[in-house]
Amino acid sequence: MKGMVLIMKNSLVVYYSWLGNTKVVAEEIVKHMGSDIIRIKETKERKAGAGLAASALEAAIGMKSDLKPMDFEFEKYDNIFLGAQVWAGRSTPAINAFVKKANLHNKNVYLFITKANDKVPEKVIISLTERIRKKGGKVVDSFSITTKMDQVVSPESVEGQVKAWIEKLNKFR
Ligand SMILES: Cc1cc2nc3c(=O)[nH]c(=O)nc-3n(C[C@H](O)[C@H](O)[C@H](O)COP(=O)(O)O)c2cc1C
Repeated sequence: MKGMVLIMKNSLVVYYSWLGNTKVVAEEIVKHMGSDIIRIKETKERKAGAGLAASALEAAIGMKSDLKPMDFEFEKYDNIFLGAQVWAGRSTPAINAFVKKANLHNKNVYLFITKANDKVPEKVIISLTERIRKKGGKVVDSFSITTKMDQVVSPESVEGQVKAWIEKLNKFR
């Protein structure tokens, strides 16, 4: 594949995205790494407008949502790139449910997080790292990208940051 930074063997990009930003970042990672990709989906659709406040509240109280069945062999992968986002300063219900349910034993986890606030989402990173550790996984590194509330990020606007992150991970190995 043209422009690929590295092929990380046994890597899976798994992500949740309501507004589409984390999806763009997930696809950019795949473009530069050639890994498999799967989207975490909720059984109940979220409604724009009023759904925003309800969603923020769900995240604020640490709720877990019902997820659609995911048809893939998780066991096959050693490296999991987990794509999450910040709602109300916390992780989202879909990600909470996924982390609770997934077998993360012996997985190397690379977190990528999108958020509107330009600060690094330390609280969410620490909280997810701890939950993943309790499930037997290890967060090797994390990375975050700042998005805007009124428009979805373009692949071009995140490409440089994603490439730099993957290059950095490549040096770890
Ligand atoms: C319900 C809701 C609450 C949010 N709360 C925060 C927040 O507390 N801090 C923040 O930095 N961004 C917040 N955001 C912005 C999202 O983190 C940002 O738009 C992210 O890129 C969304 O990911 P997605 O487009 O993949 O769904 C919030 C977005 C939504 C929809």
